[in-house]
Amino acid sequence: MKIVVIGGTGLIGSKLVNKLREHGHEAVAASPNSGVNTLTGEGLAEVLKGASVVVDVTNSPSWEDAAVMNFFTTSTRNLLTYEATAGVKHHVALSVVGTDQLSESGYFRAKIAQEKLIKESSIPYSIVHATQFFEFLKGLADISIDGGKVHLPHVLFQPMAADDVASGVASVTVGPPVNGIVEIAGPEQFRLDELVRRRLVALKDPRQVIADPNALYSGAKLSERTLLPNNNARLGQTTFETWLNQSAPRAA
Ligand SMILES: NC(=O)c1ccc[n+]([C@@H]2O[C@H](COP(=O)([O-])OP(=O)(O)OC[C@H]3O[C@@H](n4cnc5c(N)ncnc54)[C@H](OP(=O)(O)O)[C@@H]3O)[C@@H](O)[C@H]2O)c1
Repeated sequence: MKIVVIGGTGLIGSKLVNKLREHGHEAVAASPNSGVNTLTGEGLAEVLKGASVVVDVTNSPSWEDAAVMNFFTTSTRNLLTYEATAGVKHHVALSVVGTDQLSESGYFRAKIAQEKLIKESSIPYSIVHATQFFEFLKGLADISIDGGKVHLPHVLFQPMAADDVASGVASVTVGPPVNGIVEIAGPEQFRLDELVRRRLVALKDPRQVIADPNALYSGAKLSERTLLPNNNARLGQTTFETWLNQSAPRAA
């Protein structure tokens, strides 16, 4: 089966392409580096020829409100239009657990808009909602800085390893379209501020993490369970401790 992975050079995309190839599929990694640009449409008609499935694991280079909205809406509109012409049978996209409840955030408004376009299109689809990646914990600290300190709320979350995200997306990709959302998550729950603190300590990053009930997550107020998956979520195997000992040193 020919599967085109848009954003196939990214963190999740590159792992996904490898997993699909290991299972015997013709997985094509598409991104601006390989001449495929979803914002301009460049290269899309060519790469989609003969494709059965398209997986969108792109991310916006800028998370500024207007830029990220423009990225996900323009990119998704272009992709769906070219997919319809090419006769693609399944559109898979990666989004985030809790997205619907995070509309105070410009980034998540853009993800909501992306998902709406997919749901309204004529192409059968599956939207995978993943929890935060372990690989993103330092990034989370970077976007949560106030006065030189990291401010995060003491809420629950259930993050996962990027490798397990890619496995979860791969399994949805080779299955039938669900025309709905599949949730994937990590095997353990943590407190957001506590795990980011542990990650920074492991990185010997001296920034202090403050448990702040008023701190926002990417611009949105969180409640205790906003970031938690539902009971039907498919859980990855990799614990934080295992990831820290095995994958994190390689990632660094
Ligand atoms: N971070 C988290 O904790 C988290 C949790 C759940 C879900 N997600 C979702 O996961 C998705 C993937 O994240 P990631 O961290 O794997 O992303 P990433 O590593 O930043 O990779 C982004 C990919 O998008 C490609 N891209 C950028 N602009 C493009 C364009 N105009 N046309 C085609 N491709 C373009 C990039 O190509 P180049 O390499 O050529 O620039 C790269 O391959 C995102 O949609 C995000 O919302 C993230």
